[in-house]
Amino acid sequence: MGIDDSTESPYDETMAHILLVEDEADVRESLKSQLEGEGHEVVGTESGIEAIALAESSKFDIVLTDVMLPDLNGLDLVQRLKQLPHKPVVVVMTGYGSVEMAVKAIKAGAFEFLQKPFSVDVLSAMVTSALRVKALHEENQELRKTVKGQFSLGRLVSSSHVMKEVFRLVECVADTDSTVLVLGESGTGKELIAQTIHFNSLRRKGNLVPVNCGAIPEALLESELFGHEKGAFTGAIASRVGRFELAAGGTIFLDEIGDLSPPLQVKLLRVLQERTFERVGGTRTYKTDARVIAATNQDLETLVAAKQFREDLFYRLNVVPVIVPPLRQRVEDIPLLIQHFVNQFNDRRGAELTGVTPEAMALLCEYSWPGNVRELGNIVERIAILKRKGYLELEDLPEKIRQQPMPSIPNVPAAIPVGGLDLSRAVEEFENRLILEALERTNWVKSKAARLLQINRTTLIEKLKKKSLAEVVTQRTCSSDDATDS
Ligand SMILES: Nc1ncnc2c1ncn2[C@@H]1O[C@H](COP(=O)(O)OP(=O)(O)OP(=O)(O)O)[C@@H](O)[C@H]1O
Ligand SMILES: [Mg+2]
Repeated sequence: MGIDDSTESPYDETMAHILLVEDEADVRESLKSQLEGEGHEVVGTESGIEAIALAESSKFDIVLTDVMLPDLNGLDLVQRLKQLPHKPVVVVMTGYGSVEMAVKAIKAGAFEFLQKPFSVDVLSAMVTSALRVKALHEENQELRKTVKGQFSLGRLVSSSHVMKEVFRLVECVADTDSTVLVLGESGTGKELIAQTIHFNSLRRKGNLVPVNCGAIPEALLESELFGHEKGAFTGAIASRVGRFELAAGGTIFLDEIGDLSPPLQVKLLRVLQERTFERVGGTRTYKTDARVIAATNQDLETLVAAKQFREDLFYRLNVVPVIVPPLRQRVEDIPLLIQHFVNQFNDRRGAELTGVTPEAMALLCEYSWPGNVRELGNIVERIAILKRKGYLELEDLPEKIRQQPMPSIPNVPAAIPVGGLDLSRAVEEFENRLILEALERTNWVKSKAARLLQINRTTLIEKLKKKSLAEVVTQRTCSSDDATDS
């Protein structure tokens, strides 16, 4: 997981390294040449015992095995393969009438079964499916390694009061099965929060299965979520498991939930209420125990009011809302995040950045970061690539940060109205607005707001006692922990 804004699916089809276990020589040869014809690398064997030796000495992505082998029961083979550190995805092939065996194989840990005889297309669809699962397992293994890294709560870095509250909530909710709705602007770290919840939960051994509801075309999303049966639609040459099934015992992360179409909103509501669904084109009802974490940068309540998002679904999702504040509301996090990204890109990019000069840091803290933490990471990465060593200085910063416009002066009348204007009142109003903005930007920490306004704290407190300001301040601070300041 970089900080590149990649929309590429982790399940892109690639070439597979396949172990083919089949005792009938002509079947084996024919399957081998079919798979090789599609660009896969295939090793064939007729023996189950040899298959185990091969799988121990070489990493296979997929093991395609007959269930009836002369020297080893196919089920035992599945179990042995499952114990390998590099777990290949196992697909068993069964003869006509041995469905019972296939069910046993799935219970033993096989991913799917193919009933003989099967066509080239079915085989090819199965390999693609198996590769998706493999990619998902690998991505989860990588994430698990990172989670064990330097940060106590996953990979989240922060020193701000507001984020500490978010961490506290994440910690409390992680070990429950509650549905979580992560809200925040783009790039604030919503996906990271979802990963942190999953990998700090009892479900960490299960998969975290991400689905970007905004990036998958609507026509495909239903099958992506719930799977489909063979023949469900043109092109559905084999049945396929959906991401809810892949998330069994784990967590499904429904990103960009605000983009879900009305029909899929109904289906998701049913999953949340009844924990059941059907594959597209199927009649069998599947049960799911997957935990749901959803995220969006849209204002769902506005979407509900505009009847674009179902209110009942909103309440089902909004069991535990986690609101991730934008970076401009937690300026204290900026230096820490910069240090974090400098370390990260020194490692990843082989750079040797030593730190940040005070002038550059001042501008970085002043900037409003519309792209939030992702934007900050991208800027540090670019500097690590271009500059490679030394201090991060003013001239390394992008133009938009160096040339920050002066803070906008809100609603100052362009000219004195015809009827004249009460100068002292206009000035007072203007001052009040700037004070409020400073307080908002510093999360109501008065000492910080005073610094931003270049006045001392007592002067600020005096000004806050003015009748015209006091009322607004009381209203806002009632809902803020920081009213009394440090
Ligand atoms: N507190 C943090 N500590 C360390 N890295 C962070 C933190 N918050 C965000 N990041 C990093 O910033 C980048 C953006 O975060 P993430 O993808 O989680 O944001 P997002 O809210 O899901 O964005 P979007 O709405 O655009 O999908 C990621 O590389 C993530 O690792
Ligand atoms: Mg995201």
